[in-house]
Amino acid sequence: MKGILTAALVLALAATAHADEYEEHDYLLSCSGCHRADGSGSRLVPSLHEMRELAGLPGARQYWVQVPGAAQAPLSNERLAALLNWLVERFAGTAPSPRYTAGEVERLRRAPLRDPIAKRRALLSKAVRPKASP
Ligand code: HEC
Repeated sequence: MKGILTAALVLALAATAHADEYEEHDYLLSCSGCHRADGSGSRLVPSLHEMRELAGLPGARQYWVQVPGAAQAPLSNERLAALLNWLVERFAGTAPSPRYTAGEVERLRRAPLRDPIAKRRALLSKAVRPKASP
């Protein structure tokens, strides 16, 4: 009996530990090949640290799901939502509010962006900048 309880406890702990690692693991497998482990990217792939420029801008939340690398990742809606919550907090410096849910991700990823670079430019152009002094 004691052995069975111990085995059940070990399995439960293992399952918990695994769940906590999903985001980093999914990032490693699905994203880091292009974005690198530290998110710094390369000549052709933007650094995820630049997500800070977009944080808080209208449309950024949707854009981050609809970039092809995210929208088309081989991850369930639940796992992609969890990964994006982790990613935004880590790289944009602030947790998404409200947090992404599987339902929101499912709706957005049905329409991946055809021209993410133009979309990013459009988002930035709407940013309120201090007016130049006359
Ligand atoms: C095949 C290479 C590749 C993979 C794999 C990839 N990405 Fe990307 N990612 C890009 C490129 C290139 C861009 C720039 C926009 C574009 O051309 O899609 C980008 C842009 C982004 C952006 C926008 C950042 C910003 O501030 O403009 C986010 C967020 C992002 N990727 C998340 C992810 C996530 C999450 C994954 C993994 C599930 C992932 N990417 C996998 C290549 C990739």
